[in-house]
Amino acid sequence: MNIHHTPVLFDECLKILITNANGVYFDGTLGFGGHTQGILNKLNDEGRLIATDFDTDAFNFSKKRFENDKRANLYNFNFSLVDVIAKIESIDFYDGILADLGVSSFQLDNAESGFSYRSDTKLDLRMDKSKSTTAADIVNTYSEEELANIIYNYGEERNSRKISRKIIDKRKSEIIKSTGQLTEIISEIVPPNYRIKTLSRVFQALRIFVNDELENLKSFLNYSLDVMKQGSRIVIISYHSLEDRIVKEFFRDQTVEYLSPKLDPAGLIKKEAKLKILTKKPMLPSLDEIQNNYRARSAKLRAAVRI
Ligand SMILES: C[S@@+](CC[C@H](N)C(=O)[O-])C[C@H]1O[C@@H](n2cnc3c(N)ncnc32)[C@H](O)[C@@H]1O
Repeated sequence: MNIHHTPVLFDECLKILITNANGVYFDGTLGFGGHTQGILNKLNDEGRLIATDFDTDAFNFSKKRFENDKRANLYNFNFSLVDVIAKIESIDFYDGILADLGVSSFQLDNAESGFSYRSDTKLDLRMDKSKSTTAADIVNTYSEEELANIIYNYGEERNSRKISRKIIDKRKSEIIKSTGQLTEIISEIVPPNYRIKTLSRVFQALRIFVNDELENLKSFLNYSLDVMKQGSRIVIISYHSLEDRIVKEFFRDQTVEYLSPKLDPAGLIKKEAKLKILTKKPMLPSLDEIQNNYRARSAKLRAAVRI
């Protein structure tokens, strides 16, 4: 079986995550099963692993990969259903929860998925193909302001207004159906030395928006707290600043006994602290890992323990 993805921060992640070889673990981003296999290797016969991926290709691949391992139960669900999956499995609490966010190398490299501006294919960008809206639907129907906001908010691209104006202009004469058309539009207005960075940002923005990635992450973090045993760990690997900020702020917010100043500026309302942070600063891949796996270069691992 040809595995198209090298798991990132593999040893670091397992070392923090697994504290009980008989425990029950949740891997929210099954992908091609790299981390999943690592977790299973650390568990004994009593241990259990529940994993999910909303990408059907990844799910089907891993279903086959782990079909003979009775300890593993796999789902083709959104990880924001972490608590619902626990209910289905009659699990009260997990011993550890993992999410290795974003897209897999397979999704990036597989021309048909349309995740990369490097190949000319259908402008789709859905990881979860049951969703009805594709990147092409957005690019062809959203207003100039809406497009600019998506590109700015989810891609942190400063030329968002210029790019959205150009898209609207182009839309008057053609339907933008392919990654190649979008790449061409952006390339026309961005100087060559900024092209690759801008293209990555615009594609990232559309991908995050199409897949509702930031909202999924927030729900996942919130619901995870309800199904974590005392002393269990949550490990999140993120690949861009928007995800990392959400994880960092969520962890920080759960360590304090007062509501965040945004919700309670007077700082009077008490709440329960639910986490203790294990990584004061995020763990980063070694130079060696980055040299062997370019995708690891932007990874940041944050972990916390349920109290
Ligand atoms: C970086 S890959 C995971 C790779 C995996 N750890 C491995 O070693 O093979 C991220 C995976 O998470 C999936 N994913 C992203 N967001 C998800 C969500 N909200 N629910 C379920 N799966 C999600 C993607 O489809 C992708 O397969």
